[in-house]
Order: sequence, then structure tokens, then C-alpha cells
Amino acid sequence: MNSIKMIKLFAIAVFFKTAIATTYAQNVLYIPPLLSGTNFSLTIQSGTKPFYAGYNTPTYGVNGTWMAPTLQINKGDSITLNVTNNLNTSTTIHWHGLHVAPQNDGGPHQLINVNTTWSPSFKVRNDAATFWYHPHGINKTDLHVSKGIAGMIIVKDPIESALILPRTYGVDDIPIVVQSKAFDVLKQIAIATDMDTAMFVNGTLNPYINLPAQVVRLRLLNGSSLRTYKFGFTGGISFKMIAGDAGLLDSSITLTSLRLSPGERAEVLINLTGKIGQTIYLRNLGSLLPNGIYGASSVGVGSSAIAGYSSNPLNGSDYNMLKMVIGVPTSTPITTTPTTLTPITTWSLSSVNINRRLVFNTKIVGDSTQMAEGPFTINGKDYVMDTMNIITQLNNIEIWKLVNKTSVAHPFHIHDMHFYMLDRNGNPPQNFERGKKDVVLVMPNDSVRFITKFEDFSNTTVPYMYHCHLLHHEDDGMMGQFLVMPETVGLNEFSVNNNLSVYPNPANDYVTINVNAFDVLKSHTIEVYDALGKIIYSSTITKSIVTINTSQWSKGIYTLRLKQNEVAGYKKIIIN
Ligand code: C2O
Ligand code: CU
Repeated sequence: MNSIKMIKLFAIAVFFKTAIATTYAQNVLYIPPLLSGTNFSLTIQSGTKPFYAGYNTPTYGVNGTWMAPTLQINKGDSITLNVTNNLNTSTTIHWHGLHVAPQNDGGPHQLINVNTTWSPSFKVRNDAATFWYHPHGINKTDLHVSKGIAGMIIVKDPIESALILPRTYGVDDIPIVVQSKAFDVLKQIAIATDMDTAMFVNGTLNPYINLPAQVVRLRLLNGSSLRTYKFGFTGGISFKMIAGDAGLLDSSITLTSLRLSPGERAEVLINLTGKIGQTIYLRNLGSLLPNGIYGASSVGVGSSAIAGYSSNPLNGSDYNMLKMVIGVPTSTPITTTPTTLTPITTWSLSSVNINRRLVFNTKIVGDSTQMAEGPFTINGKDYVMDTMNIITQLNNIEIWKLVNKTSVAHPFHIHDMHFYMLDRNGNPPQNFERGKKDVVLVMPNDSVRFITKFEDFSNTTVPYMYHCHLLHHEDDGMMGQFLVMPETVGLNEFSVNNNLSVYPNPANDYVTINVNAFDVLKSHTIEVYDALGKIIYSSTITKSIVTINTSQWSKGIYTLRLKQNEVAGYKKIIIN
């Protein structure tokens, strides 16, 4: 997108002089308020923040004008979230990682208009882990997240509660929302630029926190628009990872660094026992990131390398992100870290009924000027709000293969379900990627496979999203959507437009489609999908009755999709 390139050049020109070595005063780490229970009131509002002396930066927030409260919910509870939009623009709130029905998901289809309240109600079905919520409007995700709307969600369950773990919020169980942000010359938050030179933790610049000398749990969330981090601590102190994106690991793993790309989460334990009086930093070890990842020293190769990227001093370098000052322990400190957590059960490969392949590419395939900057597509398609890219079926167990043909790494995220990585380029996933996940970083030339199951929720019209979690890639169209159809029960089960008729049905050698309800003077598209979601017939017509020869179609169930402008109708066709 040219406008982005222009913004980028502008931003580089502006930022080059100011760079980031700016030393801010030390600020106490903001701990977002913890909201718990089953009824939540969230009000999205705007305001300003004086991040830089002499400037008021316009910001957004939830129940405040910057950042958002942490929501603590229990598996099995039925909850209601009343989300009121007091901005002067529409937005959405997506519960990233929560397994909810598509109409409760908060993607682009659940727009919250200005001065209205959206009130999804659902049962919490996820296992204990760290999730988050953020806006997801068409072309607005990056701006709205960057301006401050990002909050953590902590899910509790009996399995996690039975383990000996730190869980006093803000004391030994700390939310850590890491975000790099860019500011323009007027100190307004800027997007779609590589000059994200300001590091925030929980919305705090140059933060410090006092921690007790005992085992402390950090809930790490990379809420950045572009940047991947390699988390570590001063002096290579080791830590234990206990949970990934969507659940506990089967056993804790000992690490000295941990990579998290945008959207990914991890819960880690650091043992501060006996360290009273010491100062330890949570660091980014950016020098360890391989090129191709936003945050490494170079993105893109040769002629496609992003110009000006390397002038951002955060790229490819190591630096402190959070100062941790260690003080006296609490009265009942946790002093040990568990090894065994909870068994992980995945789906068996023999139960897989569908394999899909999603290829990431530049919009104009092979265009080297787009290789690193985009826009990018998935399977050659830009996101279009009324196009279903994938139609799947309830209880399908599927393998998705993600193939990256671009020169940058993309963190791929799927809504609705968690997944388990099967392999990366044929090799088993590394330990830190073995648990329940909903984001996976796909490196240039990588081919990554995961297995998932589409459980519990189906809907014939409201889709879920999958996309790159680099927010300006997402905004630029590197996103698709999938419908989870109900399991087939009969003939008329999911006609969403009763004026669309198909006969005979079941059919043999031909089927007639009457599209009378649609405006027959305008063209409309008829598509037929087979049970694997593959288009086997497609045509654009301008008459009301069409007959299709189905004599070559094998016996089975097909989905007819008719579309005109914003209106789509679906019908099952059975071939005997
Ligand atoms: Cu975190 Cu579709 O998003
Ligand atoms: Cu991307």
C-alpha cells in the first residue's frame, strides 16, 4: 500500500534525529485493575496522556483513557460483558483465544457503533491460561490497539488452582503487556511504521516494579503491532515456562530466553528467593532473533530489505524492558516451582478429515518491492467481509498447513479454536511451542502444520477470522474468514435465505436453482462447495433460474452459495 510507504518515509525522516535513547524518568509499572465475577462493564473511551513533556497524546482506553482492566473469569461460569463504545468511531472488542460462538467473538462482524453497548453472554470454556482482548474493526485494528485498547484476560480452572503456583494478582502474579509504539512529530501515536521506538509495559514507559523475594509468576503478552521479543533476564537467569497461549504445558520447561510474536502469551516463573536488595531486568534479547522477524536486525532480504528499518535502535539489539527491584517476601511465599503440570491430550492423526493449505504471499506474486512490506495475502485473497474463504463443519478435525512464501515472518492466528503444532518444516515443534496455541510464528520459507478441532459452535452466516497478527498486515487484508457449518442433518437445515430454492433435492443428473429473491437484473454468483470446502462449480449469471448439470458429481452433500452484493444465501444440495 503506497500510503503506508509514504507514511513510513515520513516517519523515518522525523524519527531519525530523535531516535530512542531518550531517557524517561522511571515510572512505577501500572498494574491494570482486576475485574472478576460474571458481569463486566467495559466502557471504551478517549482522552489524552502527557507521555512527552509539552504534548498531550490522544489515547483510547477501557474504563479509563489508557489501556484496559484485567478480566479474571472462571472456566464453567456464564458471563456477560457489557461493552459500551464512547469513542467517536465504531470499533469492536475481540476476546483473543476464547472459545466462544462467532456472534460473541468480537471480530469485524460484531461492530459496536458509537454510543451503543454490545453485550455478549457466554459460558467460559477455556482452560486456565492468559488471554487478552483488543479491537478488531476493519482497517482499524492497528490504530485502536496502538492507541491503548488492550487488556488481559486470566482464566482460572480447578486444575490450575490445585497446583502450587503464585496467584496473587499484582503481588506475585504480574500481568506484563509488552508493546512497542511509534510517535509522530506531534507525539501522536503512529501506525504502519517501523519506527516503533518507545517501549511500553502495561502502558508504562521506562517501568519498574517492586517484587518479593520468592517465586513470581509473570504473564507475558506480546501486544505489539509488529515486534517480536526474545524475553530473558539480566545475567541469563533461567526461568520456567508453565503455560503457552491457551493452557498449561504438561510439565514446566527451563529456559533462559523465550520468543513471543505479536498475539502470543506465556506464563513464566522466576525464582527470586534470596535475592532481596537486587535489581533484575526483564530484557529483550533482540540480537538472538533471526532475520526476517520484526525486531531482528534485518527484515526482508536483498532488494526487498525494508529501507530505514535498521535506523530503529530497538531492532536487533538487547535492552532492558522492566526493572524489577527485589524486596522482602510476602508472609506466605511460594518458594518452589512445579515440574509436572497437567497432561495434554491432542487429537489423533487418524481422526483428521480435512487437510488445508494456506499460502502467504505478496499481493502481486513475486514482486520484490512487496516482499517485505506487503500488502500480503493468504491464498491469493484479500480479506473481503462478505466472502467466506473456508467453509468447514462442526466437529471436523483438520490439519492446516501454513506456507510462507514472503521474506518476513508472520504470526498466524485463528479464532474460535486452539491448536497444537504438529511440525515446522518437518521437524517436531520446540518445547515452548508444544502446548495449546492460537498464534504461531511462521518464518520465511517455513511450512508449519497444526491440528485443530472445530468444536461446540456452528453458525451458517457468522464467520470467524484467521489472520496475520502483525496488525498492519491484518488491516491491509492478510486475513480470511471461515464458517463452521452445523453437521448435516437433513435437506433444509441451513437455508438462510428462504427465497433461494433448489430442486429436485436430492438430485441426480441436474439441479435447478431458482434465485428469484435476488435482483435478477444485477449479476450474481453461484458457487458450489464440496464437503471439503473446495469450489467445484462457479458461475456468474443474470437470470433467475439456472440448471446445473450434476451428472459428473459424485454422490454426497454439497453447499450452494449464492451471492449478490452484500447478500449471500446458502443451501445444501444432495446428489444421489
Ligand atoms: Cu488477537 Cu483476530 O486477533
Ligand atoms: Cu503478516
